[in-house]
Amino acid sequence: MKERIDQIRREIENYQPENKEQVEEFRIKYLSKKGIIPQLFTEFKNVPKEERKELGKLMNELKNDAQQKFNDLKASFEAAEKKDQQKQDLTLPAYFQEVGARHPINILRNEITEIFKSIGFQVNEGPEIEDDWHNFTALNFPPEHPARDMQDTFFVDSGSKVAKESDQIALRTHTSSVQIRVMENQKPPIRSIFPGRVYRNEAISARAHCMFHQVEGLYVDKGVSFADLKQTMLYFSKEMFGKDTRLRFRPSYFPFTEPSAELDISCFICGGKGCNICKYTGFVEILGCGMVDPNVLENCGIDSKKYAGFAFGMGIERIGLLKYQINDLRLFFENDMRFLKQFESAV
Ligand code: PHE
Repeated sequence: MKERIDQIRREIENYQPENKEQVEEFRIKYLSKKGIIPQLFTEFKNVPKEERKELGKLMNELKNDAQQKFNDLKASFEAAEKKDQQKQDLTLPAYFQEVGARHPINILRNEITEIFKSIGFQVNEGPEIEDDWHNFTALNFPPEHPARDMQDTFFVDSGSKVAKESDQIALRTHTSSVQIRVMENQKPPIRSIFPGRVYRNEAISARAHCMFHQVEGLYVDKGVSFADLKQTMLYFSKEMFGKDTRLRFRPSYFPFTEPSAELDISCFICGGKGCNICKYTGFVEILGCGMVDPNVLENCGIDSKKYAGFAFGMGIERIGLLKYQINDLRLFFENDMRFLKQFESAV
């Protein structure tokens, strides 16, 4: 047994760990519960009485020395590690973090909604997957209207066969569907705008996309007239495009408004003198509008003899193309940081 103790002692003295992990291995091998030294103490029980005194002393020394060696090694590796950490250069600049920016479509949507909120309009939203009633029928689209065609509308396969066209569901083709939802659920006076995404089955090009954004507006009350529509549009246009903006209404057609109009504003690039943005006409088209057709009011349970309303709808991308003089609509959807970074947001 004495020889074994001597041998272990030599082993311990020669042990040269290279890292912290090996120091821990040393502890496990010699000092842990099942380690070599505690094992010796178990065997000590069988040592004859006369040898016990001498061997006991040697074993206690071995144990203490091993513990001491472990403590010293541990301390020296920890000190070295600390020194390494202190070597780091704290004067180096931190990692550069890219700060996010609002998407230009969101900047414009916020600008538009803030203008209408300032004159008492609420903001409502509706679902992007719509039924035929809200997207077409309630809006006075006759059954054979070309806008219902597969050409323009993305129909959603609901999994079950539909008997009639009017049972179909589709991605909404315009935010006018939210007009219906709001009129079905609120009593006049209604003064609300509806921003949101819309979808049309169009080939993607610099000027058209199958998904884009609209902001729709609706005002229903007693005695609402076309003059109210004009004044509201004038206020909005001056706020959005500048004080000197002039308006031009051109007669148009929408199934859900009568009379209907297309609104042009004086070109905010050239001030109406003519440039390539307005194609030398002095005006640019920004939205469709009109007086809500009495049939539409009645479809939503609103008495058209008592109430009248106006509605308008604009494409956000279209306004963005004009305002920021961008010549390709696709840039809005490509998420190229070089493009997105160029827009400052006030709201
Ligand atoms: N929904 C029409 C479109 O998508 C726009 C519009 C809205 C026209 C409200 C008149 C009134 O083109």
